[in-house]
Amino acid sequence: MKILTIESSCDETAAAVVDGNRNVLGASLASQIDTHRLYGGVVPEIASRQHLDAILPVVSEALKEANLSPGDLDAVAVVNEPGLAGSLLVGLSAAKALCVANNLPLIAINHLQAHIYACKVAFDENIFPCVGLIVSGGHSSLYRCSGPIDFTPLGTTIDDAAGEAFDKVAAMLGLPYPGGPSIQKAAEKGDPKAFDFPRPMLHEPERMQFSFSGLKTAVRYKLMGVGKVDYADMQISEQTRADVAASFQEAVCDCLVGKAVQALRLCKMKTLCVGGGVAANARFREKALDAAERFRFKLYIAPPKLCTDNAVMGAIAIERYAAGLFADLDLDISPGLVRDKQ
Ligand code: KG4
Ligand code: ZN
Repeated sequence: MKILTIESSCDETAAAVVDGNRNVLGASLASQIDTHRLYGGVVPEIASRQHLDAILPVVSEALKEANLSPGDLDAVAVVNEPGLAGSLLVGLSAAKALCVANNLPLIAINHLQAHIYACKVAFDENIFPCVGLIVSGGHSSLYRCSGPIDFTPLGTTIDDAAGEAFDKVAAMLGLPYPGGPSIQKAAEKGDPKAFDFPRPMLHEPERMQFSFSGLKTAVRYKLMGVGKVDYADMQISEQTRADVAASFQEAVCDCLVGKAVQALRLCKMKTLCVGGGVAANARFREKALDAAERFRFKLYIAPPKLCTDNAVMGAIAIERYAAGLFADLDLDISPGLVRDKQ
């Protein structure tokens, strides 16, 4: 079996060809980071236009690497939710066109479920049942994952996503986009205990929600105390910048790991799978590993390349193919977070 998977939910245009054993036969990815860096974040309209330019070359490259033509495929799978509307539409339109032209079935992929499935692809172990934690620029969500086509949302963020908070705090500190890697680098020389930032939601173990906007505001007020709050020309020392970065990173990681542990308890589960760009964070990985040892659960975090957006994690389509879960050609996008269809 050979499935072409397409990912265009945010600012990465990606395609991959996978076989029924999750082997990657070909993969291609066009990143837009350099463009969006100019604006300090993803500009949706620009993202969709760049997807338009990149989608066909990226699909061709993945097929070429796999040494296949579209007619050799068994199905085309595409992320249709959640994500930026214009970006999702580009991938979905390309997938539909390929299906119509080559008489192939269409498979819908949920981007968040695919992030969790990246752990299955990376480790090739039986990861289900598990609690799934997705932490990225657009999402901070917890899922009860009973099986590869059986995901139930437990909760999400009530305001900012963790990655979004990284990006915004990095901007406050005058660090480049994307903020996660910049903060991680700055934090290497900082003291994570220098500032005592809040750990929102951790004191409510039954509540499966995150909140990062208050933490972001706490950083802002701390910066107003130690320097000028004109972010473009902030007069704080390199050491203060590093200390704020380290203390903020520590607080976010405590929230993410702490909530995941609470979710494992609530679901009475012993396996945690983590995906999404923020899961590439070295301090997060360290803390999650510590927690896994202390609380005795099995931990899967995909390697950094499979944490950030990619099409290889779209291998989850194999499971839907096997279950006969195909989409109609009138499949629509569903940009919002709440709905979580099978
Ligand atoms: O999953 P992803 O590539 O795209 C979305 O679906 O959003 O995640 C991108 C996010 C950005 O906010 C970026 O700052 C964050 O992941 N990120 C990190 C790291 N690498 C990427 N956050 C913290 N530490 C990192 N090393
Ligand atoms: Zn993502």
